[in-house]
Amino acid sequence: MRSVKVSLGARSYEIKIASGGLAGLGGDCAALKLGQKCAVITDTNVNSRYAKPALASLKRAGFAPVLITVPAGETAKRLKQAESCFNQLAEHRLERKSFIVALGGGVVGDLAGFVAASYLRGIPFVQVPTTLLAQVDSSVGGKTGVNLAAGKNLVGAFYQPRLVLCDLSTFRTLPEREFRAGLAEVIKYGIIYDAELFAFLERALPKILRRDTTALAHIVARSCEIKADVVSQDETEGGLRAILNYGHTIGHAIEAITAYGRYLHGEAISIGQVAASHLSADLLGLPASEVARIRALFVAAGLPVSIKLNPTQRAKLLAAMTLDKKVSAGEIKFVLAERIGKVVWGQKVPAPAVHRALDLVSGSNPEP
Ligand SMILES: NC(=O)c1ccc[n+]([C@@H]2O[C@H](COP(=O)([O-])OP(=O)(O)OC[C@H]3O[C@@H](n4cnc5c(N)ncnc54)[C@H](O)[C@@H]3O)[C@@H](O)[C@H]2O)c1
Ligand SMILES: [Zn+2]
Repeated sequence: MRSVKVSLGARSYEIKIASGGLAGLGGDCAALKLGQKCAVITDTNVNSRYAKPALASLKRAGFAPVLITVPAGETAKRLKQAESCFNQLAEHRLERKSFIVALGGGVVGDLAGFVAASYLRGIPFVQVPTTLLAQVDSSVGGKTGVNLAAGKNLVGAFYQPRLVLCDLSTFRTLPEREFRAGLAEVIKYGIIYDAELFAFLERALPKILRRDTTALAHIVARSCEIKADVVSQDETEGGLRAILNYGHTIGHAIEAITAYGRYLHGEAISIGQVAASHLSADLLGLPASEVARIRALFVAAGLPVSIKLNPTQRAKLLAAMTLDKKVSAGEIKFVLAERIGKVVWGQKVPAPAVHRALDLVSGSNPEP
């Protein structure tokens, strides 16, 4: 078992990483001294695979869990769904000391976290992430929320879990495309923070793609350590936390102009990170050899690195970038890399430079 601590004073918590950890869920919750009643919130896909062992473990430890299942997919992250969860919690008489277990990917984690933050003005919650993206990113750091018609993640709260339990064995059932999309965030941690992690990914990629447990334990633990380190220094994104958005300005815009239907998030930010690396070469002197290594790693991970855009789509992409909620006062700011392992945030980038970077990622690319 690997353990990573997220240090946030009274709101500190542990991330436990192990293969088969789900069986210990009940015992881990018991150690947190929470109330007896709890609700496991999951989605339809995860329910059929992991709800049984999760409920059994909680019961063995003396808890009285109820199961709340939401539809799989991004559309579950909406206020109507949150309201349905609130109603079910109330029906089952969950109280202040009761807790919520978020069992699933980032969608379930964001929704269940938001429900936990709001129900009775906040009850404890535990994250049990079952996608690679959720284990290395969304379950750590306390961002919770739902989408509005006007945009993604527009309503939510910073609300930290009491524990994150990463069971690596849940990856066995994760579709290949979802797994690779999660790798885009792991590669991001290498670029923004840790040249050694980046080199490990270059070396160990075949093992990782075979889902070798030892290699997975390393990349999940190291990613969580980096996210924990960044979040403990800047919980609510006043500064440093922005580095986690490397490749996301262009990536989010790609997701928006393709109506969140063509690319998974990890695929969009893969293209975004390659574009940001070209921008970094242009504006900060990131060596061409490092741009090439970055691009090659995304390619080797089976992720898209280019996108064909006609002039209308390109105009839409630029417009979408200025609508991104990380824009303040209409100025597009980027996270750019000085070298692999070291980035700077808040870099103002002129539109012509964005166009040059887009030229460099607009080669032909197979559809994902
Ligand atoms: N809170 C944050 O800091 C943060 C960070 C990044 C992303 N996010 C959010 O995370 C969401 C994306 O998360 P995601 O990529 O995990 O998507 P997801 O939760 O939709 O999961 C992807 C798919 O895999 C299925 N699934 C999950 N675990 C499985 C397993 N072990 N085996 C088989 N199928 C499984 C799900 O049912 C779903 O169909 C987005 O809504 C995004 O906004 C939040
Ligand atoms: Zn991301």
